Amino acid sequence: MEIKVIAGNILESKSNVIMVSYFEEMKPLEGDISAVDKALDGAIWQLIEKGEIKGKACEVTVIYTLGKLPSMRVAVVGLGKKAEVTTDKVRNAVATACRLMQKKNADTVDTVTQGAGIAGIGIEDAAQAITEGALLGTYTFRKHITREPEYKEIKQLSIVEPDKSRIPAQERGCHKGRLIAEATNITRDMVNEPANFMTPTDMAEMAKKLAQTYALEVTIIDREQMKEMGMGGLLGVSQGSQQPPKFIVLKYRGKDSDELDIALVGKGITFDSGGISIKPSEKMDEMKGDMAGGASVMLALSAIAQLKPKLNVAAVVPTTENLPSGTALKPGDILTAMNGKTMEIISTDAEGRLILADALSYATRKLKAKAIVDAATLTGACRVALGDICTGAFTNNQELVDKVVAAGKEAGECIWQMPMNEEYKEQNKSDVADIKNVGGRGAGAITAALFLGEFVDSTPWVHLDIAGTGMAEKDRGYLVKGATGVPVRTFVNLVMSMAKQG
Ligand code: BES
Ligand code: ZN
Ligand code: ZN
Repeated sequence: MEIKVIAGNILESKSNVIMVSYFEEMKPLEGDISAVDKALDGAIWQLIEKGEIKGKACEVTVIYTLGKLPSMRVAVVGLGKKAEVTTDKVRNAVATACRLMQKKNADTVDTVTQGAGIAGIGIEDAAQAITEGALLGTYTFRKHITREPEYKEIKQLSIVEPDKSRIPAQERGCHKGRLIAEATNITRDMVNEPANFMTPTDMAEMAKKLAQTYALEVTIIDREQMKEMGMGGLLGVSQGSQQPPKFIVLKYRGKDSDELDIALVGKGITFDSGGISIKPSEKMDEMKGDMAGGASVMLALSAIAQLKPKLNVAAVVPTTENLPSGTALKPGDILTAMNGKTMEIISTDAEGRLILADALSYATRKLKAKAIVDAATLTGACRVALGDICTGAFTNNQELVDKVVAAGKEAGECIWQMPMNEEYKEQNKSDVADIKNVGGRGAGAITAALFLGEFVDSTPWVHLDIAGTGMAEKDRGYLVKGATGVPVRTFVNLVMSMAKQG
């Protein structure tokens, strides 16, 4: 979809549909919607009076202009209460409207700058939210479908702006929105891709491609080097698979010094069968998405490279399949992670923490990162606790987690901090090794996080458990059924805000 800002008046728009916004209880109509209503001889107002249009967030009402305006249709987009409008409401509403209009075969859409100037939303931010909403909300994953689609993609969305002086800010917002939405949608593609098309080798190829396109430094560590480096967790989990494991490091350099301001670490299990502790077959297919964290850190880095903050940032992705076989890891086995700590395997299905043990050790000891944030589809327990709305956050540093939560809020990716009381550590104690990989039935997301915490020394660190939020069961606002791309936009906001704070 092409997105641009054009100077003009929405009343003269010849596009297939024009979008105007309506707030709950707006009486009388003001601004653009009032002008469009007049041109339609009060048709919108009638629908409001009859209670058909209420202005609830994400409500979309399509009205045919029947020749009263050059455009064929008007989509009245609800934004909720005027005082409560946020950029995320704009993003969600535009996404819902665009998805509906795409299904109704609209090829061109013109919109006003929805939300701009209301409740403190600037025009640049509004344009960014509109762009993100349109691109994220109309996302489809049709790569493996050979039959013709039922509808075509929207070709063009124009933000129509009567005041020319406002256009440069809107164009900046569109540009930023596009590159962030594209990074999110590529993450979604990688996560939706089945495991036979997204192997650890494919993940590494993707990293190389991103490195080439965005001038990033890339290192792919193979099995032999992993042995030399002592990456026992990743090697152990990969033992049962025919696919060679890869350890991916991408680096963005935004300043001259060699210090690494932040490492983004992502779990890259391209398929999690559970291994010898095999999962039930129902919904096992969903485990093709167990590399969502890994994909998200890679694509976040590609967006960061385009935004060019003055910081050094790395993405670290340990990637492998988790499969049962005659050579697979077994319950009771003991592995040694890169930092020398030994780990007793209680369940081979708690594999994420084993590969992250090496990746976090690498980010801490080898890269000497000043801060680490990891993202992982780590525990079913986190999904039970927080559902698919909030990502769980766990930390050893309140200041860093506050920044991460704020970055998520700005992105509309809700993050909820979970406790990390020392007392839970008791559950991870092993009789035969330094730590065991399952901490019993209670507090599964917390004991998993405490396990990871053993591998970051005293580096400020936040762990994001995206087991619930990495995938959506149905369309909701700009989320489309399947992979969500969470937390790409949080990472981008976090790094940009860190760069601003200096
Ligand atoms: N990848 C799963 C967690 C998961 C579950 C992600 C559902 C997305 C949706 C992880 O590797 C896993 O299997 N965790 C186990 C840990 C348990 C054995 C301690 C779990 O949550 O059941
Ligand atoms: Zn597992
Ligand atoms: Zn897993």
